Amino acid sequence: MRAASATAADADRPLRALTVGDVAEPVVPDGWVSVEVRAASLNHHDLWSLRGVGLPGDRLPMILGCDAAGITPEGDEVVIYPVVPDERDPRGLSLLSERYPGTLAERVAVPRDNLIPKPAGLSFLDAACLPTAWLTAYHMLVTRGRVDVASSVLVQGAGGGVATAAVALAVALGKTVYATSRDQGKRDKIEALGAVPVRPGARLPERVDIVIESVGAPTFEHSMKCAAPGARIVVCGATGGHLATVDLRRLFAMRLELLGSVMGMLPELADLMDLLVAKDIRPVIDSTYGFSAVADAFAHLESGDVFGKVALDFLH
Ligand SMILES: NC(=O)c1ccc[n+]([C@@H]2O[C@H](COP(=O)([O-])OP(=O)(O)OC[C@H]3O[C@@H](n4cnc5c(N)ncnc54)[C@H](OP(=O)(O)O)[C@@H]3O)[C@@H](O)[C@H]2O)c1
Repeated sequence: MRAASATAADADRPLRALTVGDVAEPVVPDGWVSVEVRAASLNHHDLWSLRGVGLPGDRLPMILGCDAAGITPEGDEVVIYPVVPDERDPRGLSLLSERYPGTLAERVAVPRDNLIPKPAGLSFLDAACLPTAWLTAYHMLVTRGRVDVASSVLVQGAGGGVATAAVALAVALGKTVYATSRDQGKRDKIEALGAVPVRPGARLPERVDIVIESVGAPTFEHSMKCAAPGARIVVCGATGGHLATVDLRRLFAMRLELLGSVMGMLPELADLMDLLVAKDIRPVIDSTYGFSAVADAFAHLESGDVFGKVALDFLH
């Protein structure tokens, strides 16, 4: 079967570590099932893997990909929850493509318990955008950020998959949403999603109750300054650098909560899909590639000139 794999690690030129070609069919342990992948999506996680971050050399070659929707041998249309219990990992879990082969293949083996029925109202492509970036944004907003008691949200770096998901979800939940981007074109798209576009570092008209941070060092000081008393600053990533300075006086004086966040739980993915169907929200998809153009899809993601998800259609 065809698959996209990391066959090396290249910190500076990650695409050089990508190999697309035929690999053996997946091994399917007891309690697992082989899912025929119909659609998948890329995440920054896949680029980190190609750089060797979280994927040491002794696990190579490794099929990449966390996100997919597809069909079981029984013909059921499913979405794959990518977090697998894993005693070998200090976190007690791993994401598909970290220790078990990932979703960027024609077939992927997953525990049956990780399958969620795909709602009829969502296409395979839409559903394949949800399990990592959208679930992460949902968990950050709803569970960590307690969005039900918030009125305003700031999303930093609103071009990425997590950030566009956070903007769309927070707008749909009726919050006032501010979102930063360095790029005027992306700020225009942010506005079209219903958020107030903001230049990086600019003063907001009000302080916000939740900050969604996935950029890291370049935006973190701004995130702290924009936080209202008692606000939650929820951090899931650090694309722009992971070493930031925290003004502890502001942290305690404003009673801020600084919260780390990783993915979300399986029932949250089901709740997220129900929310999308109920509110008629669809994932923001930047571009869709056929699987034969997966290397182009990676190059596009790496360029940073992306607004939303980069998706893969396995039927083309
Ligand atoms: N913890 C988890 O469970 C989890 C889950 C998913 C993702 N993540 C992490 O979250 C991060 C976001 O991932 P993503 O795929 O959604 O998006 P991404 O492709 O990493 O980009 C996010 C945004 O960061 C901004 N950015 C990048 N470099 C910057 C810099 N030097 N200065 C200022 N802004 C910069 C860009 O915004 P503009 O160009 O618009 O300014 C970009 O749109 C990644 O680090 C990823 O690994 C974590």
